[in-house]
Amino acid sequence: MREAGMESVTIAVVGSGYVGLVAAACFAEIGHRVICVDNDESKVKTLREGGVPIHEEYLPELLARHRGDRLEFTTDLRAAAQAAQAIFIAVGTPQSRTGSADLSYVDAVASEIARAIDSYKVIVEKSTVPVYTNEWIRRVIERNGVPTEMFDVTSNPEFLREGTAVVDFLQPDRLVVGAATERASQLLKSLYAPLTSGEYYKLTQAVPGPCSEKMPPPLLATSTKAAEIIKHASNAFLATKISFINVVANICEAAGADVEEVARGIGMDSRIGPKFLRAGVGYGGSCFPKDVAAFRHVAETVGVDFGLLREVEKINEEQKLRFFQKIRSALWTFRAKKIGVLGLAFKGGTDDVRESPALDVVKRLLHEGCIVTAFDPAATERSKEFLPPSAEMRYADDPYAAAQDADALLILNDWQEFGELDLAKLHYTLRYPIVIDGRNLYAPAQMIEQGFTYLSVGRPGLQQPADPSGAFRRAQTKDDATV
Ligand code: UGA
Repeated sequence: MREAGMESVTIAVVGSGYVGLVAAACFAEIGHRVICVDNDESKVKTLREGGVPIHEEYLPELLARHRGDRLEFTTDLRAAAQAAQAIFIAVGTPQSRTGSADLSYVDAVASEIARAIDSYKVIVEKSTVPVYTNEWIRRVIERNGVPTEMFDVTSNPEFLREGTAVVDFLQPDRLVVGAATERASQLLKSLYAPLTSGEYYKLTQAVPGPCSEKMPPPLLATSTKAAEIIKHASNAFLATKISFINVVANICEAAGADVEEVARGIGMDSRIGPKFLRAGVGYGGSCFPKDVAAFRHVAETVGVDFGLLREVEKINEEQKLRFFQKIRSALWTFRAKKIGVLGLAFKGGTDDVRESPALDVVKRLLHEGCIVTAFDPAATERSKEFLPPSAEMRYADDPYAAAQDADALLILNDWQEFGELDLAKLHYTLRYPIVIDGRNLYAPAQMIEQGFTYLSVGRPGLQQPADPSGAFRRAQTKDDATV
C-alpha cells in the first residue's frame, strides 16, 4: 500500500523473536521494505523456506503475503544496516541474576550497527529496556567512531500481547515514539503514517480490529526517556492490576462472594476499566515477571524504593501456591493420583511456556508423586523441553484424552476451547468428576448442576452433595452420557 505523501522506508529489524518477527511482517504489511536479521542461521533458513517458528494469529498469512517481495531474511547485519534508513533493535533483554535487564545482546548489536554505519541512520529500540539504555546505545556507537550527526537513537516501545500480536501491532491503542531530534521523529512518524492516517484500514485485506479509517490510532511523541519508562510502567501497572484482583479474589473466597461479580462492579468505573481484572493462578510469560523485576531495579538505581512492585511479585508467587493448596484440599493426598491438565502455555492463544504458572503447578504435582496427563492446543512441543514425556508425565491429543480416568481435571490456562467442553462427556471420562479451574472458565452453578465438584478462584467452592455410596461416585454410566 502506498498513498500519495506516504514514503516507503527501508527498515532493518534485528532479532526475529516474537517482537522482531511480528514487527517485520507488519511493517511489510503497511508498505515498507523490511530486512529481518537474525544470527541464528537455522531460524533464518526456516523463515526463508516459508516456516513460521511461533504460533501467532495472522502471522503465517502476513509472512506468506510479503516473503520474498517486501520482506527478506538474512544473517548479514552489516548489509541490512547499510541498506536501511531505520534499524530496529528487537533482541532479547533477559533477566539477569540481580533482577535487572541483561542488555548484553543490545550492546553487541549496537556495536555491530556502529561498524556498519555509512550514512544517516535512525536506530530504534524496540526491545523492552530500562531508561537510559538509549544513552548507552548512543555512547557505544560514538565510541566506535561514528560522528553524532550520522545517527539518532530513538525509542519506540511495543505493546503487543502474544497470541494477538499482529492485531495489537496493526490495530494499537496508541503508538509511542520517543526521539530527541525532529529528523528522527519525522522518520518514525512516516513509518506509522499508513496506520495514523487511517489508510491501512481502507484495504480489503487489512487485518481486522478496532481501528478504522475514521478512528485511526493516536501517536504520542515523547522524549526517549519517557518512551522507555512508558513501556516498563505499562507492564508493571498491568501486573499490579492482576495481583490486586487476585488478592481481592482471595478475600471473596473467604467471605463467600464471587470475584467475577466484584470485578465486573469495579471495572464498570471508567477510571478503572474492565480489562486485566481476571483472577487466576497468577501472571506469567516472558514479559510481566521480567519487566516488574527490571522496573523495580530501575527504580532502585535512581534511588527510588518501589516496594509496591515487590508486593506485586510476592502476591503472584503466593497465588500459585494457593492454587496448589486448593488442589490438595480437593484430593487429600497426591501420591499416584492421576491428574488431567488442560493448558501448559502461560495463557491461551500462544505456544509460549516461559514463566508459565501452568508448568509451575505441573512440576509441583510431579514432585508430589502424581501422574499427569496434559493437553495444550499449541504448547505441547515446547513443554516437552522442560517436562520430558515419561511414565509420570504424559501428553494427550485432546482435552478428553487428558481427562481420561483422572482423579481430577485442572484448567490452567484460558484457551477458548477449554471453556466450551462437552460437560456430559467430560463427566463420563473422568474417574471422579472433580474440576479445579484456575481461570474461572465456568459458572459454578452450571458445573454443580452437571454433577461436578468444582473449585475455581475467588468463588465459593462448590461440591457435589455427599453420596452414601462414596462421595464422588459417577453420576452417569457410559450409556446415558451424551458422548
Ligand atoms: C504483556 C502485555 O499485555 C503487552 O502489552 C506487552 O507488550 C507484552 O507483555 C510485552 O511486554 O511484550 P503478554 O505477556 O503477551 O503481554 O500477555 P498478557 O495477555 O498481558 O498476559 C500476561 C499474563 O497475565 C498471562 O499469564 C495471563 O494469563 C495473565 N493475566 C492477564 C491474568 O492473570 N489476568 C488478566 O486479567 C490478564
